[in-house]
Amino acid sequence: MTNEPGSTPFQVDLRRHLREREEDRDLTRVISELATASRYIIHSIRTGELGVAGTSNLYGESQLKLDVLADRIIRKRMTHTGVIASIASEEEAEVQVIDPNGKYSIAYDPLDGSSLVDVNLAVGTIVGIYKGNDVLKPGREMVAALYILYGPRCTLVYSTGNGTHEFAMNALMEYTLVQEDIKVAEHGNIYAPGGTRNKYSPAVEAFVSHLEDRGSKLRYSGGFVPDINQVLIKGEGVFLYPYLSDLPKGKLRLLYELNPMAFLLEQAGGAASNGRQRILDIVPEGIDHREPVFIGSKADVAKVEDLINTLES
Ligand code: F6P
Ligand code: MN
Repeated sequence: MTNEPGSTPFQVDLRRHLREREEDRDLTRVISELATASRYIIHSIRTGELGVAGTSNLYGESQLKLDVLADRIIRKRMTHTGVIASIASEEEAEVQVIDPNGKYSIAYDPLDGSSLVDVNLAVGTIVGIYKGNDVLKPGREMVAALYILYGPRCTLVYSTGNGTHEFAMNALMEYTLVQEDIKVAEHGNIYAPGGTRNKYSPAVEAFVSHLEDRGSKLRYSGGFVPDINQVLIKGEGVFLYPYLSDLPKGKLRLLYELNPMAFLLEQAGGAASNGRQRILDIVPEGIDHREPVFIGSKADVAKVEDLINTLES
């Protein structure tokens, strides 16, 4: 779906993209409503207008924290689609059942990296969509995943299992296609290492040294969405948040963060592993399950798996 040379350029919006790919109408609805929710979220991020309830602001009005507000915006829109069975959010300790017979369930991180807003760095929303009323399933059972990146531009990247596609928000706050079927190269020259390096295991340390010896560039902002987006859109590299000596399960959450990103990266030809197992094959033990992660270019992920297998078995 690209413009032919010499033809009048046209813009493909998100809904049309989903329709032309003959996606299920209800799934199209869920994804479109998430896109709409992001308009309100980006508005709140940019203007600091944080709605009502919670703590007081300068003017004595009540305000919400940005991540709580983002959660409510998404929850409300999802509930109103009429097709949602249950909602699991990083902001809530329990899964909210909307309609046990609903068609889809979602697990999401409403505003990942929200503390980065204060220092004016990019943040994002991450969503995994499942069929039926259960989200406690391996990520490979997702029917769709997406993230929205609130950066200098607001972009949305989604997959329904037919490639990974990028959209950008235009002046009318509509998402139009930027890039279809994004591809991540086998090897990459970008690495984004989370966690404290002196707490890395020997195998992970050897992996990072290998990347450095190869001349890879360090690119880490501390925001999972922009850091993954850089690997995906540049089409190369690896993000890692490994197990640390004092954090054996790493930091990132399987349901809200890792599974959707693993789905999107795999659909772009990349890979995602906890060092021993494919992320999408892990059976979650609970909604707050954490896992170490190595995600990005396939051969780089295979390399770290190999080092872990050789040095730490
Ligand atoms: O939600 C967790 C998160 O904020 C991610 O956005 C990010 O990748 C990670 O934590 C950063 O962790 P650290 O501050 O330890 O590098
Ligand atoms: Mn998060």
